Parts: sequence; structure tokens; C-alpha cells
Amino acid sequence: STYVYHAIILSRANYDRGIAGSPKQQLAKLFEVSLRVTAPEELDIDPAIAPCQNSKFGDYQCNNAMGLWSKVKGKSTQFKNPQQIGQAIKANLPASEMIDGSSIAGPGFVNVKLSDQWIAKCIQNMLRDGIETWAPKLSVKRVVVDFSSPNIAKEMHVGHLRSTIIGDTLARMLEFSNVEVLRRNHVGDWGTQFGMLIEFLFEKFPSLEVVNDQAIGDLEAFYKASKVRFDGDPAFKERAQRAVVSLQAGEEKYLKAWAEICKISRSGYEKVYEHLGVQLEEKGESFYNPYIPNALELLNKEGLIEDSEGARVIFVEGKKIPLIVVKRDGGYNYASTDLAALWYRLNEEKAEWIIYLTDVGQREHFEMLFAAAKRAGWLPAGDSKYPKTSHVGFGLVLGEDGKRFRTRSTETVKLVDLLTEAKSRCKTALIERGKDKAWTEEELDKTAEAVGYGAVKYADLKNNRTTNYTFSFDQMLNDKGNTAVYLLYAHARICSIIRKSGKDIEELKKVWLLPSKLQAVIAFAVLSYDVIFGLIIVLKDWNAFHYCIRNFKTLGSYTLWTGKIDLAHPGERVLGLHLLQFAEVGEESITNLLPNGLCEYLYNLSEYFTGFYTNCQVVGSAEETSRLLLCEATAVVMRKCFHLLGITPVYKI
Ligand code: ARG
Repeated sequence: STYVYHAIILSRANYDRGIAGSPKQQLAKLFEVSLRVTAPEELDIDPAIAPCQNSKFGDYQCNNAMGLWSKVKGKSTQFKNPQQIGQAIKANLPASEMIDGSSIAGPGFVNVKLSDQWIAKCIQNMLRDGIETWAPKLSVKRVVVDFSSPNIAKEMHVGHLRSTIIGDTLARMLEFSNVEVLRRNHVGDWGTQFGMLIEFLFEKFPSLEVVNDQAIGDLEAFYKASKVRFDGDPAFKERAQRAVVSLQAGEEKYLKAWAEICKISRSGYEKVYEHLGVQLEEKGESFYNPYIPNALELLNKEGLIEDSEGARVIFVEGKKIPLIVVKRDGGYNYASTDLAALWYRLNEEKAEWIIYLTDVGQREHFEMLFAAAKRAGWLPAGDSKYPKTSHVGFGLVLGEDGKRFRTRSTETVKLVDLLTEAKSRCKTALIERGKDKAWTEEELDKTAEAVGYGAVKYADLKNNRTTNYTFSFDQMLNDKGNTAVYLLYAHARICSIIRKSGKDIEELKKVWLLPSKLQAVIAFAVLSYDVIFGLIIVLKDWNAFHYCIRNFKTLGSYTLWTGKIDLAHPGERVLGLHLLQFAEVGEESITNLLPNGLCEYLYNLSEYFTGFYTNCQVVGSAEETSRLLLCEATAVVMRKCFHLLGITPVYKI
């Protein structure tokens, strides 16, 4: 019956709140109970909870009244307008330790102010149990992130840097959410360009044995030279085309030459990954080549593949041009490989979510790929069901002249040079501040590296990824403003406050935050009471249920660990609430695949910390312990943000 249902929701809400979840989620659970009671016949309404625009009115608001009103209008005898629904939602809200007060605004918005003690308690619990307790909760277990993916023999360009940085961050966020991530480098190692490269290699080095990195030298120059040859000499061009066929037929000599070229290219881009601290497993286009015939056969059986002007194609809804899966010459292409890779990831690797990172220019390709997979029934229709695929597109990197980013005479920027330059500029800045005298050479180097690489990553991640952004060393290395330099220094400053207090923070945590045996006994007693009471609710009737939620302060409302962190000062409260919101920001960032949300959060966190620190004396004050714990909590959350953004934290400046 509905009563049983209500009781179950309520006890589940209590239980879930016991095991954390973001404030927003926890509020959503309370409002869910209230909505069920307010409108028992409307079972499909989800609580719509959002932070309040203006903190004057509260911390969060429930926006369901209007929507509910449009559903019950004319039918309900109980409600005459949305305000009344808002009143009812407010009145039916179960009592909870997390809520300090609520009010109605406008056409039925229910504003909620969170309790200071509850916020403090959540922070204490996090310090005690670890930041992992604030990790996002996702419903998937295994995800493929296809990122970086440069093309062999061509220099990695800034677009690949963006793919690498954004992809790594998304992978880190998923890993933090306890998801198994298959980090895949889908390198372009199987195109027709190899015919040309191999033929050129044979021409320059008739004996394959003498080929090595030194012999080929700059692979990019090698590529260009072979292209000149290809375009200029029809006989060479013909040999190159035959070389592709030999390679694809698996002829040993050709395979060996191909492997050699891949190896040289690989050692180039692996240097970039090493600098950036990025883990990737290479499964390039060539890996999926053997799976293409089978994948196409499956699609053919579904009747998806048609002939069009001599090529084999798949038409998808809403697109005039089809997806070409077999070229006119019978060869496979980028799309055939991606279909095979998708099949492999779904069926062999059993991934529930497959995320692709490329510039927005490839959106069309991925839209068609996903549409074809849906037509074939490989993916469910709609976007909310799993397994699902997402294309994470990003904009261009621009130079300060507003054009596509290039340096000096070369057409594209060598990524390693870029990173090295960021680091050396940081080192110079540190030396200017006299750090070469205060620190060891190793400290200087490590700090310059952390700040320099961090700055490059953060400058990329802080923008909404779909927009173009301007690459500027001066901007990204500025120690004021929204940069990694500023943030890393802010973190170091917090660490130094704690250091200078002379207090051992681990000791503080132990003494202040660990529950005593007595508290454990009380917790057990309350929990047993909770279970028994839950049973009574289920066995008794509606009135018992109502009585319970109205008059008993809900059973979750026991405060076992009181008053260690105190958020009496407004500066402390703003900081405390923001700390707590880490969980929901992290979750939104990863579900929307938008790391800039996390950057914005981190920047605000450091601003709120500054606000707190300028107004509240920490060391030597009466509130010293509480405030040191707040400093520590801020540092812990900042470090987790850095970690998720792939930035190495700095502890002193
Ligand atoms: N190699 C491609 C490029 O540089 C990116 C590959 C992206 N991944 C994929 N499965 N198509 O543009």
C-alpha cells in the first residue's frame, strides 16, 4: 500500500542521509518524502532542488510547486494556487537535523536554510573518514575514455594537448567516483599515409636494419619530405598505393617498417604524457582492424548497409550525407574502425559508458556513428539509458593574435617545448623571489614543474571546453586572478598557517573527531531504535506515519559529535557551506562532462577562504582548534580538486 511505500521512502531517506551524499541529494530525499505526502497521486515527480540565487533567502530551494500546480490545477480541491502547494510541501517536510528553517517565496518556492551544526558535523566527518566519502556516486561500473589519440608520424598538436588534458581529468573524476576507467589512446596508426611513409623509408634506407630514431630524425620532417615525394612523382605515388595494400595484407617486410615508424612516433608522444603525468593505454586503429569485417557483417544483417555511388554506406536519420563504412576502392576508413572499436568496447570490454574526446570539428562523425549504433540496436534509443556514448567536443586553442595557435616558423607547436617553456618561466619567477637561496635545487625544480604544468592544464580546463581559448603564458602564469599559480599559492599559504600554529593536525583530528566508545554505544542504540520504529511505521497505519514525521525529530537527527567545528562567524559559515558543496559540484561536473565547473568551485573556495582568513583570526584565537580544522578541511578539498585536475599541489612558497 502507499503507506508502506511512504514508510520505506522515509526510512531509506534516513538511512541514506546516514551514509552521506551531497547536501543537495540529502535535501532531495527529504523533499521526496514531502512531495509524496503532499501529492500522493503524482508518483512521477522528482524533487527539483537548487542552490538559492540569493543567500539572504536560504541555502537551497525546492522548485516543485509550479510544476505540481500545472498537474493538479482544476483537479485538486485542496490547492487553489501554487503558493498553497509550496506551503504544503514546506509543512510536510520531515523534521531533520540538517534543516534550520524554511520559508516560502514567490509562487511557492520553498527556501531552506541548513543548520550550522549540521554543516560543521559533515565537515568533521569528512576530516575523520576521508574526502572519499564526498566522492560522486555514479551508477556505472566501467567506462572507456578515448582521449589524446594523436596520429602516428604527424606531430601532436595543441588539439591533442586539449584532448589529453580534458580526457585525463574526466578519467580522474570517474576513478574518484569508484568507476573502473579504461583509458584508451586511439592513435591513428593505420591510415593510407603509411603507404607513402613506408615507401619513402625503403627508398632512404634500403636495409631496414639500419633504421632507428636517429636515422629518421625528426619524424614530422620525414612525413613532410615523403609527402613532397608523393605529390611530385606519379611513379612513387603508385608504389606507395601498392605499399598500403601489402601492409594491409600483412606482408612481413611492410609490417616491420610500419612498426618501426610507430615506435619512433610513440617515443615522441610518450614524452608528453610523462611530463603531464598522464596514464594511457594505446589501442590504436590497427588494433581494431581485425574486428571490422565482423562488425560490418552484423550491421549488414540488420539491413543497415547500402550501396551508394560505389561505396558501402549507412544512412542515419536527419543527415543528408551517409556514413561511409567501405570506400569505393574496397578499403576501410576512420568510420569503419570506429564502428569496430565501438562493438569491441561494448561486447568485449563491457563498457557501460564510452566517452570520446576530440575537437568539435568531429561532432558530425560521432553523431552519425552513435546514430548508426542505435539503429543497429547496439545502443538503446534515447540518451538516458546505458550503455551510452558521449562525444566530448572542445574548441580551438588560439594564439594571442586570435588565430589558430602557432609558434615561430613551424606550423604547429611542439607540445614538449610548450611545457618546458612554462616550467622554465616559473623557475625564473621563483628565482626572482629568491627561492634559489631558500630551497634545494630539487625543491626549486619540482615546484617550477608543478606550477608550470599546472598552469597550462588549468588555463585549458577553466574554460567551458566548447569555446575557443587563447593561449597566453603571461595570463596563465599570473599569480593573481583565476590561475593555477594563484590557487597553488593559496593552498601553500593554508599549509603554512597550519605549520606556523605549531599544532599537529593529525593529533587534533584524533582528539576532536574520533568517536569515543560511549558514542559508539549510543549510535548503536539509536540505530536499533530506528529499525524498530521503522517496523512500527510499516505495521501501523497512516496516522502513525504522519505522527512520526511531524512530531518526532526524525531519527536521523541525533547529533553524536557536537561542537568541534564552530561556524558562528559568517565568514566561517560561507566557507563551510562551500566545502560541503564539493560533493555536488564534483558530481555535476562529471555527469555533464564539464571540468570547468570544478575549476570555478576551486577558485571560489580559495576566495571564500581568503574572506574567512581576513576576518577571523586563527592562530592564538579562542577558536583556534575549530579554525585550524577548517583550514585543514579547505586544504584537503583543494588538494582533491588539484588531483582531479591533474595538478600537483605545492606545500610551500
Ligand atoms: N586520431 C584522431 C585525430 O587526431 C582522433 C581519434 C579519436 N577517437 C576515435 N575513436 N575516433 O583526430
